[in-house]
Amino acid sequence: MIIGLMGAMQEEIEPLLKFFKEYETVDYADNKYYIAKYKDNDIVIAYSKIGKVYASLTATIMIEKFKIEKLLFSGVAGAINNDLHIGDLIVATALCQHDLDITAFGHPYGYVPEGKIYYKADETLIKIAIDIAKEKGIKLKEGIIATGDQFVANKEKKEWIRKKFKADALEMEGASVAVVAYSLRVPFFILRAISDAADMDAGFDFDEFLKSSAKNSADFLISMLDKIK
Ligand code: ADE
Repeated sequence: MIIGLMGAMQEEIEPLLKFFKEYETVDYADNKYYIAKYKDNDIVIAYSKIGKVYASLTATIMIEKFKIEKLLFSGVAGAINNDLHIGDLIVATALCQHDLDITAFGHPYGYVPEGKIYYKADETLIKIAIDIAKEKGIKLKEGIIATGDQFVANKEKKEWIRKKFKADALEMEGASVAVVAYSLRVPFFILRAISDAADMDAGFDFDEFLKSSAKNSADFLISMLDKIK
């Protein structure tokens, strides 16, 4: 099988590259794709750069050019749900775009005609994650992740996203990866570790915890590889 492992930032894929040690580097469409082997599987790794547009591009290239058959994303997120603290893992059951707004035409936030507000992640991959977390005694929250092209560092904005989308965490790529993978019929999985609480301290916390939280998420993703069939 060919498995795609994706992040948005260098720090989010660095622990993956360290784990695989040997890989080939392919330059394509202004980005680098790292090709590794793990047991019987081929692994394609890339970080997209921050935001929905770059993440959509990278996810599409992974699927269309590199022919990945499953897409797993690892990275960091801002917490909305008060149960989530820095370093905690959250797996997305569904993802939405909090910044998609054509409400002027009577549509709900996050919706455009012929699209969906929520894109559901692959249940089999989620189950693998839940089983591993139980086995290892790791706290793993299941929840809704809201995506937008904004770094949120504002309590009111975060509260608005929680209310409108019942979201537990927010970030800047997940829903766009979800739309691409869903549309191209590739099972997908989005995992995040909390780097900040999307409040007034978020910028400071993000800088401080990006590396350690990104590693939490990447290490967990690696632990899933043996169980993916
Ligand atoms: N990723 C991690 N923290 C975030 C935040 N506060 N806003 C948007 N994306 C994030």
